[in-house]
Formats: sequence, structure tokens, C-alpha cells
Amino acid sequence: MSSSCAKLEIDDTKIELPILTGSEGERGLDISHLRERCGVITYDPGYVNTGSCQSAITYVDGDQGILRYRGIPIEQLAERSNFLETAYLLIYGKLPTQEEYDAFVRVITRHTMLHEDVKRFYDGFPRDAHPMAILSAVIGALSTFYQDSHDPTNPEQVEISIHRLIAKIPTIAAYSYKKSIGQPFVYPDNALEYCSNFLRMMFSVPAEPYEVDPRIAKVLHLLFILHADHEQNCSTSTVRLVGSSHANLFASVAAGVYALWGPRHGGANQQVIEMLERIRADRGNVRKYIELAKDRSHPFRLFGFGHRVYKHYDPRARILKQACDDILAQIGIHDPLVEIAKQIEEIALQDDFFLSRKLYPNVDFYSGILYKAIGFPVNMFTVLFAIGRLPGWIAHWREMLADPHLKIGRPRQIYIGPLCTDYTDITTR
Ligand code: SDX
Repeated sequence: MSSSCAKLEIDDTKIELPILTGSEGERGLDISHLRERCGVITYDPGYVNTGSCQSAITYVDGDQGILRYRGIPIEQLAERSNFLETAYLLIYGKLPTQEEYDAFVRVITRHTMLHEDVKRFYDGFPRDAHPMAILSAVIGALSTFYQDSHDPTNPEQVEISIHRLIAKIPTIAAYSYKKSIGQPFVYPDNALEYCSNFLRMMFSVPAEPYEVDPRIAKVLHLLFILHADHEQNCSTSTVRLVGSSHANLFASVAAGVYALWGPRHGGANQQVIEMLERIRADRGNVRKYIELAKDRSHPFRLFGFGHRVYKHYDPRARILKQACDDILAQIGIHDPLVEIAKQIEEIALQDDFFLSRKLYPNVDFYSGILYKAIGFPVNMFTVLFAIGRLPGWIAHWREMLADPHLKIGRPRQIYIGPLCTDYTDITTR
């Protein structure tokens, strides 16, 4: 990386801060020795201006609306790749040869079943348990079945954990859905490819034959590819932070699932559909909700709008909006929520409140419409986001552990609490 320096003067101390320059020209001040050299730290709520690492996995240009996995534009992967090939690209840093791809698919396929004792966990969950709570609980519990592969510094143990997690996450998700509707769990059928296997576990019943619609499986590949990674987002940063303590991969990913659940992050796709349904129930009064979203005194936000990095249209939202038109027509579904979503977009993108704040549709704005069209219940949408995001979490966890400069994540703070004070006996308070 080419570098130069920035000059910083504090009181009578003058220091130079190296400037790191990334492969796309993004520059960052290296403050890794700031405190020891001039006794101050930086302050940056939400890390809006702070880079936590150098990464070679995903590049996002929020102003240009660019997203690339290992340099490959998301539009090309969406058009030509499939989810497991994209997962391989993110995790191992290159597109697999046919032999590498076949070996990867083979090993993933052989790990799709869950230990029979894992199924008993589901007996204890309430019928209406949120599937994100189940997903994280069961992923965390998997570490109790694979205590022979906890060591993050052992390549073989890491590799088998990667295979187990990618293979089993659809099974865990499908079992949580079957539990919620009181239907028998459906075992994986390894004659089916990844997304078809998942659809069958989700929607088939032992009482009758089930044929996967390849068009639907293809939509699922597209959705998972688009969600597969997004550099240092909240949940990925969580996986990195937990992993920096050398917690095993299951524990790190379980933490990432909980972070993704938040309505301001991955939970937004569920909120978008609930918002669109609420507007539809309110006679499609889009303008009323646009005005609500602009009212700072009201907690309502336009879910699926806005992004920390994209200050223009999220390229994933653009692909998904087109997919809604193409695929819903193909499978003969007319969902009134699509028109409501398009109305919101059209009105909001002519309104200075949103334009001045650079609030555009993000990946969550249209994804829920496709999930709904496939037949997934709304409370499964963030679980689907997690299935897609798993390869990204794994890739970042692996990259972090391979970093020779890895330190345990431990931010500093500006203390604003009371000065030294004495304990007082309860009788005198
Ligand atoms: C994802 O980081 C990633 O990469 C995430 C993700 C990924 O792939 O991992 O892309 C996936 O999480 C997408 C985002 C999904 N979340 C939502 O759709 C929830 C709604 N959006 C917001 O909550 C918000 O936009 C965030 C959380 C996404 C981003 O928040 P920021 O960057 O901290 O910006 P902000 O909250 O400070 O907002 C700036 C201004 C504020 O107004 P003012 O205080 O300046 O008056 O815009 C307003 C906000 O109130 N604003 C919104 C809004 N989003 C921001 N106002 C109305 N509706 C919204 N959706």
C-alpha cells in the first residue's frame, strides 16, 4: 500500500501519522500508536470514521453504489454464479476450479444432517419462538457436539467447522420453521443441490411428493449471493470482535446472528414487509407514512431505506427490484406490496428530506417481497439473511485470525463519570 503522512499537533507535541492507502485509493490515518505517542485517543461513536482492519474480501463504494466480492462485481456474480461458488470465492479468495468446486459441494453435502440429539433442543423451544433466537442458540450449541474442533489456530479444525456450519444452517433454519407449524422435521436429501435441499426441508411434508421449482431455487441462490458479504457491517464486526478473543467459530457466528437480528440491521427485512402490510391496511396511504418517517419526533422510520455506507442506491436493491418484476411475473404472482414499495421509492426519492440525507432503498427494501413470494413466513426473513451472510462472516473471521497483527478487540472510552468518591454506609444515605 502506498503511504504518506498526516501531521498532528497537540499542545506542544507534534507527531506524524502514517496514511495507509487501499487498493481502490481509500486512505486511512494509522493511529495504532497515537495514545502512546501523544496521550490522547480518538472518539468516533458507531465507528462512522474508523477502520478496524485492512481486508481483501469485499469492496463497497457507497457513493458510486459499487459492491465487489474479491474484486468481482456483484452484478456479475448475481447473473452467473451460484451461492456455494460465491461462498468459496469469499472464504478462499478465488473462484474455484471445477475440481475444487465439486470437492467443496461434496463435503458440504455430506454435513447437512444434524446430530439426532440436536433435534431435542427444539422440543424445549416455545412454538412461537423467533427463529433467529433458535438459529443462534442451536449454532452455539453445535460447539458442544464438536468439541474436537474449537481451536481457531488449527487449520483442519477450522475447515471442518466451516463445512459443518455452511451445511447445517439450512437444516437448523428449516427445523425451526417445522417446529413453529407443528409439522415433522424433514431430513436433508443430498441428491438435491443446496438451495433445493433447503426448500424441500422447508416446504415438503412426508404425506405427499414435493418437487422443487428450479426457478424458485434460482431466486434463493440470487438472494443468498446478494447477502453473502458486506465488509465491516454490524454483524460481521461482531463476529470479528468475538473471534479476536480466540472464541471458536460456532461462538463467533452465534454472536453475529444476534447482531444481525436487530431491526436497524438484518431485522429490517422483516420490518419492511410489516411496514408495507401496515400501509396496505391503511388504504395504501403512502404519503402518510413518508411524512411520519420525516417527523423527527416520531419513532417511525422508513425501513429498508438508508445505509451507513451507501449514500446512493444500494446495488443489491437495484438487482432485487428488477428481480421482483421478472420473477413475480414468471411465477404468476401479483403482490400489491410491490406497487406500494415502488410508490414509496418514487415519492421518497423526490423528497428533499431523504435526498438531503442520502437515504435510498437498501438491500432489505425489496428482498422481503421475494422471500414472501417464495412462501417464507415473515419471521424467517432475517434467518434467510443469516444463511446468506454466513460465508461472509466465515471469510472475515478466517482473514482476521490469519492477520499477523491480530490483537484482541478492546476499544477505549472517554470516561465522563464521577471523580473519586467514598463509599457511604447505607444508614447515612
Ligand atoms: C443492513 O452496514 C451494512 O452494510 C448493513 C447491510 C449489510 O449488508 O450488512 O447493508 C444490511 O443492515 C441495511 C440497513 C437496514 N436497516 C434499515 O433499513 C433500517 C432503517 N435505516 C436506518 O435505521 C439507518 O439508515 C441505518 C441504521 C441503516 C444507518 O444509520 P446511520 O448511518 O447511523 O445514519 P443515521 O441513523 O444517523 O441517519 C442519518 C439521518 C438521521 O436523521 P437526522 O438525525 O440527520 O435528522 O437520516 C435519518 C436519521 O434519522 N434516517 C432515516 C432513515 N434512516 C436514517 N429517516 C427515516 N427513515 C429511515 N430509514
